[in-house]
Amino acid sequence: MENLKPSAEELFEQAYTYPDTDMKERYSMLIGLDEQKNKLKKILGLLVNPTGIEEWAKKHHPSAKKIIHTVLRRPPLIVLAGDVGAGKTELALTIGDEVARQEKINITLLPISLSARGNGRVGQMTQLISTAFEYTIEKAKKIKGQSGAARGAVILLVDEADALAQSRENTQMHHEDKAGVNAFIRGIDNLGNGKLPAAVLMCTNRIGSLDPAIKRRSAEVLYFNRPSKDQRLNVLNGPLQELGFNLKDVEEIVEMTGESKEFEYGFTFSDLTQRLIPSIILDAYPDKNVTPTRAKEIAKGIIPTSPFKEY
Ligand SMILES: Nc1ncnc2c1ncn2[C@@H]1O[C@H](COP(=O)(O)OP(=O)(O)OP(=O)(O)O)[C@@H](O)[C@H]1O
Ligand SMILES: [Mg+2]
Repeated sequence: MENLKPSAEELFEQAYTYPDTDMKERYSMLIGLDEQKNKLKKILGLLVNPTGIEEWAKKHHPSAKKIIHTVLRRPPLIVLAGDVGAGKTELALTIGDEVARQEKINITLLPISLSARGNGRVGQMTQLISTAFEYTIEKAKKIKGQSGAARGAVILLVDEADALAQSRENTQMHHEDKAGVNAFIRGIDNLGNGKLPAAVLMCTNRIGSLDPAIKRRSAEVLYFNRPSKDQRLNVLNGPLQELGFNLKDVEEIVEMTGESKEFEYGFTFSDLTQRLIPSIILDAYPDKNVTPTRAKEIAKGIIPTSPFKEY
């Protein structure tokens, strides 16, 4: 049989290293995610650099020895779950910068996407997952310090992981998908048992049908939702005021991008940043000014992305 094992270049779209000022900027532009940001920073910080909690215990609870191990022994998996265009991928791509600065180490992020859309990889999912874990473990072993803090850390990002989110109990599940789930579980266990400075981030729209064995192994599930009215204001206010809109105009647009009689859901974060704002600008470009009247017409004409429905 031909050797299917992909090379690191084929496997990972692009490796990122942190600290990285561009990523720092992108992280700071994510709105309304303070809770997710803080949790992720803490958990990742400890997974990649366990000495942190030992130092904390020494200072605050010098007699606590065993209890900190319950924190340190958590499986190295964090799930980012929820609505489309809500910042899951963006946070997963940029959090490494925060953790790198906080822990004063270098971090490498290795991203793979399990999206079945058009990359012809469906049949190779198991191979893809096992190899991704192999590379991650290999890389983490190299940077694990002899004692104490690691010199660096690795984050494996498994994005668009919906293919893993169908329960194994579901008899409809394709054989290859089950094998993929099993490879994923093995990978998490291997990584955890190795006590390596590494963690896995997994993004999915379908937390409800995530395999129970994967759910059990996640140290934390972070949820992402559509922006509230305040969060929409937060996203739109800066850019629109720059264009000369007053607060009343901005608030009207905020209102229009919320739930309506027509749609029981409002705009996603990405509807605002990647559709509405660019449309407003492109409409005026190249020879007109942006006006609030035109901007409102454009907002009215955009249909919010429908929420991801679990079935
Ligand atoms: N919380 C947010 N604050 C500001 N902008 C956001 C936020 N969330 C998403 N965006 C914008 O939307 C874009 C798409 O977000 P992202 O790719 O992270 O979505 P996602 O949650 O991964 O969605 P999907 O489930 O469809 O993959 C981002 O690049 C950013 O411009
Ligand atoms: Mg995404």
